[in-house]
Amino acid sequence: MFAIVLVGGFGTRLRPLTEHVPKQMLPICGIPMIELVVGHLADHGVEKVGLAMGYRPDAFLEAYPNGYIAETPYEVAVESEPLGTAGAIRFAVEQFQPKETFLVLNGDVLTDLDVRALVEFHHEVQAEVTIALQPVDDPSSFGVVTTDTRGRVEAFIEKPEKGSVPSHNINAGTYVLEPSAVEQIPQGRPVSVERETFPELAASGTLYALPSATYWLDTGTPQQFIQANLDMLNGKRKQVPHLPEAVIDPTSLITQSVIGSGSEVGVGAIIDKSVVLDRCQIGANSEVLGSILSEDVRVGQGARLDGCVIGQGQHIEPGEILINQTRPELNPT
Ligand code: GDD
Ligand code: MG
Repeated sequence: MFAIVLVGGFGTRLRPLTEHVPKQMLPICGIPMIELVVGHLADHGVEKVGLAMGYRPDAFLEAYPNGYIAETPYEVAVESEPLGTAGAIRFAVEQFQPKETFLVLNGDVLTDLDVRALVEFHHEVQAEVTIALQPVDDPSSFGVVTTDTRGRVEAFIEKPEKGSVPSHNINAGTYVLEPSAVEQIPQGRPVSVERETFPELAASGTLYALPSATYWLDTGTPQQFIQANLDMLNGKRKQVPHLPEAVIDPTSLITQSVIGSGSEVGVGAIIDKSVVLDRCQIGANSEVLGSILSEDVRVGQGARLDGCVIGQGQHIEPGEILINQTRPELNPT
C-alpha cells in the first residue's frame, strides 16, 4: 500500500525549535519523528511513502539521501507554496498517481493505530474516504467528528469553540482514500481538508470514520513534544530511545528528561520533565524544568528555566531566571 505523509506545515507552535528544521525532523529520544511515523506504516504493510512537503524540504533529503526512511522507499512532492492539507494531497496525488486505495497521514502524529483494520473497515462500508478517530478529553483543538451507528460521518467540525463540542471523538490524522475522492479538491489555491473537503464529503454521505482508543499523540506543541519524548523514555512505545553519550556530573539530578548527544550537565544541576537536544551545556547548579533546549544552548551557572523553549545556539546568562518564555535562535540559518 502507498501512503502520503503531510510534512509541509511550518510548525508554528513549536518555534523556535522549527526555525531551522521541520517538526517531523525533531528527535523523539534521538529518533527523528518521521522515522517513527514511517516505521509504523511499514509495520502495517505500507511499501512506499510520498512526503508532501514545502517547508524546508532539504532537511529530509539531506537526512535520507539514499531514498529510504525507516527502510521504506520514499519520494517527495514539493509545493512551491503551502497548498493547505487538501491542496497538498491533490498535488501529491497528481505526482504519485496512486491507482488504488491509499493512505494519507498527518506527519506529526505518533500512534499505535491498527492501520490494516482501518483499511478493512473502509472497504466493508465502501467509503470514499475513511478517517481514524481517537477519543480525547479536550477535543477543542482538533477536528471533531460525529457519526451514525454504521460509522458514516454526520458532521466534521475543525477546532470548534470550547463548550460547543458535539463529540469527544476527534480526527486522529490517518485517512484511507479512494483516488476518486481527490478529483473533488479544487486546484490552484490552498484548500483545507478539514475545513472544506471533509465537511463536503460528509454532506454527500461518502465519508466514514472508525474510532479506536490506542496510543495517540499529536506532537505539535511544546508540551506534547516533551510528552512524546517522555512516553518513549518510559517504555510506552515499542521503540527504544537512541541516546548516545552525554556527560553528566554525578551530583546533578536528572528526572523524567531526555539529554541529547554531546550535551554536558554540570555539578548540582537539576533537570526535570525537559528535553535537552544535542551539544548543550547546562551550567553548575542551574535548573531546567518543563523546558526544551534546542541544539548548542548554553545555560549559565545558577540560571533557572521553567516552562521555556530556547532556540538553537542561545546563551542563558548565569543566574538568569526565565519562566514560560521562548528565546529565538541565536544565529538563524
Ligand atoms: N504539504 C503540506 N502542505 N503539509 C501541510 C500543510 C501544507 O500546506 N499544512 C499543514 N501540513 C501538515 C503538517 O506538517 C502536519 O503534519 C499536518 O499537515 C497537520 O497539520 P497541523 O498544523 O499539525 O494541524 P493540527 O495539529 O492543528 O490539526 C490537524 O491534526 C489533528 C490531529 O492531530 C487536523 O487534521 C485536525 O483535524 C486533527 O484533529
Ligand atoms: Mg498537528
